[in-house]
Amino acid sequence: MTNKSLGFVGGGRITRILLEGWKRAGKLPGKIIVSDCNADTLVRLKARFPGIEVAPGGNAGAAAQDVVFLAVHPPVMAEAAAAINGKVQGGAVVISLAPKFTIAKLTGLMGGFARVARVIPNAPSAVNFGFNPICFGAALAPADRADITELLAPLGECPEVAETKLEAYALLTAMGPTYLWFQLQALREVAATLGLTEAETGPALKRMVCGSARTLLESGLAPGEVMDLIPVKPLAEMEPQVTEMYRTRLPALFQKIKP
Ligand SMILES: NC(=O)c1ccc[n+]([C@@H]2O[C@H](COP(=O)([O-])OP(=O)(O)OC[C@H]3O[C@@H](n4cnc5c(N)ncnc54)[C@H](OP(=O)(O)O)[C@@H]3O)[C@@H](O)[C@H]2O)c1
Repeated sequence: MTNKSLGFVGGGRITRILLEGWKRAGKLPGKIIVSDCNADTLVRLKARFPGIEVAPGGNAGAAAQDVVFLAVHPPVMAEAAAAINGKVQGGAVVISLAPKFTIAKLTGLMGGFARVARVIPNAPSAVNFGFNPICFGAALAPADRADITELLAPLGECPEVAETKLEAYALLTAMGPTYLWFQLQALREVAATLGLTEAETGPALKRMVCGSARTLLESGLAPGEVMDLIPVKPLAEMEPQVTEMYRTRLPALFQKIKP
């Protein structure tokens, strides 16, 4: 699959994340064209990945590649998909990275082009530890699906899921890192003030986060029992507020991003 050319309509954060992951794995495809309406974004991307082509003048070049990623936000997706209508090759595959726009809707916007898949990637793909659920359109043959899966494999896990589940994954795994990163970074900085070096904190933090998730999910203990395993909780005061934010904000956002 890596001998196929890739086009990206949109060269922002998620495009960079995917390119970082392929580069880190030594699997950066040979021909990549990225278009974006923001020329500065393309300059920065080209500086980071000198081998890619950038197309500030429009999306036609990106749309003409073997695999075309739609990497724009939902508010501009209709415009971006309609603009590549007629520019995608018959045997190409279009992969949307956005919530909200179903395969049926995208097919309609692209004048009936049905060789479409949807992926909701996540940022740990940059270090080959992503969780990138995928849904294939019915028009994609087993060989197409195998090719796409092979392309995405260096980025992390790529489970096939029902299309109706993708927006839930957007809240769980795509946005999930933002719920945790600021806390992990604060803890990392405090650890430094307590005398731990970066070399000491790094493995400890990784193991603690992974082990905490595994204890919650795999210990067989009830959630309350897990949380009672440690009697001293220095941040207990913030728990009700944070829990309330999860319970209100995430369902509200889900209502906005669901098809
Ligand atoms: N970042 C993630 O971790 C992540 C994870 C899962 C899914 N996604 C999905 O990926 C999509 C892109 O997100 P992102 O995080 O990469 O956002 P981003 O950093 O804002 O990048 C989007 C880029 O697309 C450009 N753009 C806007 N309209 C365009 C058009 N018509 N043609 C070409 N380029 C256009 C934007 O330019 P301007 O800034 O000038 O508007 C921007 O540079 C979204 O649908 C998002 O839900 C992102």
